[in-house]
Amino acid sequence: MEYLLGIDIGTSGTKTVLFDNGGNTVSSATAEYPLYQPRIGWAEQDPEDWWKAVCGTVSSVLKQSGASPGKIKGIGLSGQMHGLVLLDSGNNVLRRSIIWCDQRSGKECDEITRLVGAERLISITANPALTGFTASKILWVRNNEPEIYAEINKILLPKDYIRFRLTGVFATDVSDASGMQLLNIRTRRWSREMLEKLDIRREWLGEVFESCENTGTVTKRAAEATGLARGTIVAGGAGDQAAGAVGNGIVKEGIISSTIGTSGVVFAHMDKMEIDMEGRVHTFCHAVPGCWHVMGVTQGAGLSLKWFRDNFCSDEKKEAELMGVDPYVLMDKEASEIAPGAEGVLYLPYLMGERTPHLDPYAKAVFFGMSAAHTKAHMLRAVMEGVACSLRDCMEIIRGMGIDAAQVRASGGGGRSPLWRQMQADMFNADICTTNSGEGPALGAAILAGVASGVYPDVVSACNSIITVRDTISPDPGVRKTYDRYYEIYKNLYKHLKSDYRDMAELLEE
Ligand code: XUL
Repeated sequence: MEYLLGIDIGTSGTKTVLFDNGGNTVSSATAEYPLYQPRIGWAEQDPEDWWKAVCGTVSSVLKQSGASPGKIKGIGLSGQMHGLVLLDSGNNVLRRSIIWCDQRSGKECDEITRLVGAERLISITANPALTGFTASKILWVRNNEPEIYAEINKILLPKDYIRFRLTGVFATDVSDASGMQLLNIRTRRWSREMLEKLDIRREWLGEVFESCENTGTVTKRAAEATGLARGTIVAGGAGDQAAGAVGNGIVKEGIISSTIGTSGVVFAHMDKMEIDMEGRVHTFCHAVPGCWHVMGVTQGAGLSLKWFRDNFCSDEKKEAELMGVDPYVLMDKEASEIAPGAEGVLYLPYLMGERTPHLDPYAKAVFFGMSAAHTKAHMLRAVMEGVACSLRDCMEIIRGMGIDAAQVRASGGGGRSPLWRQMQADMFNADICTTNSGEGPALGAAILAGVASGVYPDVVSACNSIITVRDTISPDPGVRKTYDRYYEIYKNLYKHLKSDYRDMAELLEE
């Protein structure tokens, strides 16, 4: 038997899955780590935590399966995108990673726009300057921590730091590199113009590979730390969204995915590159060579429900523990007892600012429409519906670009909830289906490793043979009409609050 290994360095934890060469899960392990929020709107993680989680989960999947490490044909990496990892000349990590959902670099985004020019920026990087992306985080370090900036020798993304620990190679892949805002999205190469205008040295960045290319092999030291065989191939891999898309078969036009992880993403494959000139959705290189993808991102999707669970659902947590079920199962049941629309309670999921469609780092979450008659269950339902509204924002822009959304595949932790899937079907007015692949990014990464190591001829044929559609949920016409009306009010709320968000941000900065 031959195997492929997928490692996904996520925000809440790392998930490592060993697959056979038919894409079936053999063993799987996850390890969580902390998210540091030293100030409101800031988000950091310790790269050493990621590495420990990788070592622990790799050892665990090998032990559980009894697989001989030498039979693993390739390793694929997937990871939270955009996070900034800085190394000094001794390859030591210089500071905690400033990760994707951190919102501190608003001023640096203005600086980037000034230096490059708004239109030129979109034409090179296919996106406006965003706090979430890596370039503004680099400039923030330059402006605020000059002593750290002076020590920089390498700049890596989260999964690429793990690649470095596994192989000793400094490299990235086109899909993840797209989110640094330093790549020319059309040519799939670092943009000399961006680097010059932002005064960032080319030698700080790794070599760029296609996602299914071989980037290096496991070193003796990494083999000792993980239990892997020295010399095992490590493929380019992909940012978690592109890897998840491969793991769900979003590798051709006409199929869209809607993923609820910590963030929420509506993702479509493109054979030809298209850009939303308003920059509300991102155009990035896809993990399929020579193709691109467009995605709308809502910052606080699964994060909103997790936040609600951790702050208000201790009873559900206790009961779930006694019953041996996930607390989300009980929360789903509670929310399903409330009518669609939560009797007028609306939730704006802007716990970490918002990207699509507002591009507003200052936006904050809101419960609207509360009365004394409402209960926690109404708020719970409103949280789930608010996230679905925000995914609809993404879907509407993507449809507006003329992209066909004939089939929507639900994925991520939130995609496991039948209630949340039904809400998405009703909100998008589209059939929502699930696939046989429960592993999203880890499977996608393993498929990319399979192509890099010659197990599969190419990404599309591997997906065709491994991924099949399972259940389909159709929209309920009555609920859809209700949601259309609620969605209009949902959209208006942001417009009304936009300037108040800024005022509050200024007040908090005083
Ligand atoms: C995508 C994004 C998030 C992170 C974490 O642009 O920022 O989806 O990759 O999942």
